[in-house]
Amino acid sequence: MKIDFVTLFPEMVLPALGHSIISRAVNQNLVVFSAKSPRDFATDKHRTVDDSPYGGGPGMVLMAPVVESAVQACQPTPKTAIILTDPAGERFTQAHAEALSQLDHVIFICGHYEGIDERVATQIATHSFTIGDFVLTGGELPALAMADSIIRLLPGVLGSAESHQDDSHSNDGLLGFPLYTKPQVFNEEEVPDVLRSGNHQKIAQWRRQQQLIRTKTRRPDLFAQADLSPSDLDLL
Ligand SMILES: C[S@@+](CC[C@H](N)C(=O)[O-])C[C@H]1O[C@@H](n2cnc3c(N)ncnc32)[C@H](O)[C@@H]1O
Repeated sequence: MKIDFVTLFPEMVLPALGHSIISRAVNQNLVVFSAKSPRDFATDKHRTVDDSPYGGGPGMVLMAPVVESAVQACQPTPKTAIILTDPAGERFTQAHAEALSQLDHVIFICGHYEGIDERVATQIATHSFTIGDFVLTGGELPALAMADSIIRLLPGVLGSAESHQDDSHSNDGLLGFPLYTKPQVFNEEEVPDVLRSGNHQKIAQWRRQQQLIRTKTRRPDLFAQADLSPSDLDLL
């Protein structure tokens, strides 16, 4: 997979991808990154990339032509996902990460300052995503967060020891179960007995029950949509 970032701040993005599981994926040629700055496509002597908003108001707006040129330099095909980072976009979910992980090429467009000319959303981007109901200074962190969630789903990136099958928001839409490791007692709080019982069936049942309880209490919105079996209802 190839992932490109269109950003005024490539130095915010590329170094963040040189660590841990993501750098291992790069070394295995499972993913290739590059970053293109709209400033490199400015045509005036001041290398202008933004201007004040029509209609007035504070801040600067990233101009559409330089974004378009930077996106074109990434050589998108009709199958490329061109994702605009946008607090007003659709909320990004694990299901989006799973769908995007099937593609060969993804481009993220990172806004900054007051935002991006709306015609980038209407003419250039194929998707507009927010990573949550809050506003960041730029689209670099949202793009990195989305890219990370996509890359870890690529076959071969996670070893079986790091499998994503039991993760929150995967498969059945439930939250993950609680995890424990040594020491057995930490500040008087003990690891649940069942996890040290060696009884794999009981452990699986306990974990499923914890997933159900956690999701029902913490995220009733997810629980209402979860795909539950009759045995799940018994466990509750
Ligand atoms: C300060 S924000 C602009 C906010 C914009 N004026 C608004 O009200 O929606 C600058 C840029 O950061 C990125 N950004 C900020 N928060 C984001 C979020 N929650 N999800 C995705 N991108 C975000 C977008 O690329 C955005 O264009």
